[in-house]
Amino acid sequence: MEELKIVKNIKCLQEIVFQVKKKKQSIGFIPTMGSLHAGHLSLIEAAASENDFTICSIYINPTQFNDKNDFNTYPRSYETDIELLKSLDCDLVFLPKDKEMYPSNKSIVNYNFTFCMNILEGEKRPGHFSGVVNIVNTLFNLTRPSRAYFGEKDYQQLWIIKSFVKNFQLPIKIRSCPTIRDSTGLALSSRNDNLNKEEKIQATHLFKTLQKFKLSLESESPKGGIIDVKKNFINFFTKNSLIKLDYIEIIDEENFSFVNRIKKNIKYRILIAAHVGRTRLIDNIPIG
Ligand code: PAJ
Repeated sequence: MEELKIVKNIKCLQEIVFQVKKKKQSIGFIPTMGSLHAGHLSLIEAAASENDFTICSIYINPTQFNDKNDFNTYPRSYETDIELLKSLDCDLVFLPKDKEMYPSNKSIVNYNFTFCMNILEGEKRPGHFSGVVNIVNTLFNLTRPSRAYFGEKDYQQLWIIKSFVKNFQLPIKIRSCPTIRDSTGLALSSRNDNLNKEEKIQATHLFKTLQKFKLSLESESPKGGIIDVKKNFINFFTKNSLIKLDYIEIIDEENFSFVNRIKKNIKYRILIAAHVGRTRLIDNIPIG
């Protein structure tokens, strides 16, 4: 295993990428915002297993945060992250600075190429997905990957990135990787670092709710349809003072449309978002 290259500026990154490409080697790329956990590591392992050269970026992208407090409290642990990456089959970590990523205000593009950018997470966090696409596009241009790896944990983000690559005909394969959870079922997330002990226990209700919802939908058609089942879950959250539900919705994976009825042989996803104390968490599971 080669030593991890730590790269902090664009010029140096481009030079290395150029050399790798010259050798006709494939590049696997994993964009992250750091505070790495086993979810991120699974993406890095997937990339390393099918590419010659693996690049991970760590950059807390300011344009995707619509809430300043969320940006300020987002966990940061660069040193631990680098140590972790050294123990993996990762060839290069890119740690850019704001100045290089956004040289001027004019470098920010207002993307709005799919309705999906304005619903659920897009509605609750205006401008969030445009910020994500801005940075992912810049990072794609710099790293020129054959394949890029994204987690199903952020299902809407994954869907938007796939449609971005398709709409703008980028020569990159988007690989989706399953959600990694802890032993209680809680989806791993850097934001979990901000939960206290009690909040961590309460946060397990997100996954439990998704599982119960899935079970009730898959076991015969529920009386009164999905809307009634949904109401029960919403009631549960209303009674719990530590969790504030943002949404729970079912979408068709093909076109991301909301559904109120489940048909056979079609893939759906239940998506949930909730505030646990001051921390906002999201999760999802597939059905069908
Ligand atoms: P971040 O939240 O750091 O996530 C980086 C990648 O790790 C994303 O593709 C995310 O879906 C994946 N991931 C996070 N938790 C996971 C889990 N428990 N299991 C599997 N994969 C998981 O998502 C972002 O950063 C940013 O929006 C980014 C794409 C880097 C753009 O700034």
